[in-house]
Amino acid sequence: RMEQKLITIPVVVHIIYSNDLENISDDQVQSQIDVLNEDFRKTNPYVTDKWPQAADTKIQFRLASVDPNGNSTKGITRKSTTKESWGAQDQMKDSKSGGVDPWNTAEYLNIWVCNIGNGILGYAQYPGGKPSTDGVVINPKYFGSSDKGSNFYLSAPFDKGRTTTHEIGHFLNLRHIWGNSRGCGTDDLVSDTPESNGPNYGCQHGTVSCGSEDMIENFMDYSDDTCMSIFTSGQSARMHAILMEGGFRHEL
Ligand code: ARG
Ligand code: ZN
Ligand code: CA
Repeated sequence: RMEQKLITIPVVVHIIYSNDLENISDDQVQSQIDVLNEDFRKTNPYVTDKWPQAADTKIQFRLASVDPNGNSTKGITRKSTTKESWGAQDQMKDSKSGGVDPWNTAEYLNIWVCNIGNGILGYAQYPGGKPSTDGVVINPKYFGSSDKGSNFYLSAPFDKGRTTTHEIGHFLNLRHIWGNSRGCGTDDLVSDTPESNGPNYGCQHGTVSCGSEDMIENFMDYSDDTCMSIFTSGQSARMHAILMEGGFRHEL
């Protein structure tokens, strides 16, 4: 396998809130960045040793320290609004529709934290989409980890920060582990993840489909947060391909 170099992605978090709870603390934001680093570097305490292909992806994250104008920043923006629910049509990403415009999406990973509504935890844009809407969106109740603070605004069983890990997986070109369409014979284009016929919920270790054990412990399944703990080396290679020279996200 080719040696992967360590990549650090600068992140800006745009918090858009309609009440105090949704206006999550800097500490809660940092707890999410810490989880991302543990998850992508295979250092989270939940890592399973069941799958030998589990990998350190050599991708890490930090809050931006310089804003697009060259000024120093915490990498967090905040906006108060009367809009209580945003839907999944990107309105939070546009100041003309009451949202917050992204920072240059070629240079920053933009994360909008707002109430999406309709039971949606988070959503992502795949590489190759419109720059003006590039990034991921996460409901504040699922952004951060209850392992890292006691008074965070979070909701179990999605309170360990894995929704953002999952969505950034999509942002870096990963499909769901079952291949984005149900049934056997559709693939996630990654050879070291076993075939699976659809999403797994809860925490059903040992579930079998398509003639092999499903990797319900993978971040790209739909298992509960405490249950998912790995990316594979194949997924890591796919993410690095999109981040490399010639890949869509090579400037990040
Ligand atoms: N449902 C979301 C999606 O479609 C994310 C699922 C996150 N799962 C989790 N255990 N946090 O991409
Ligand atoms: Zn997904
Ligand atoms: Ca596969």
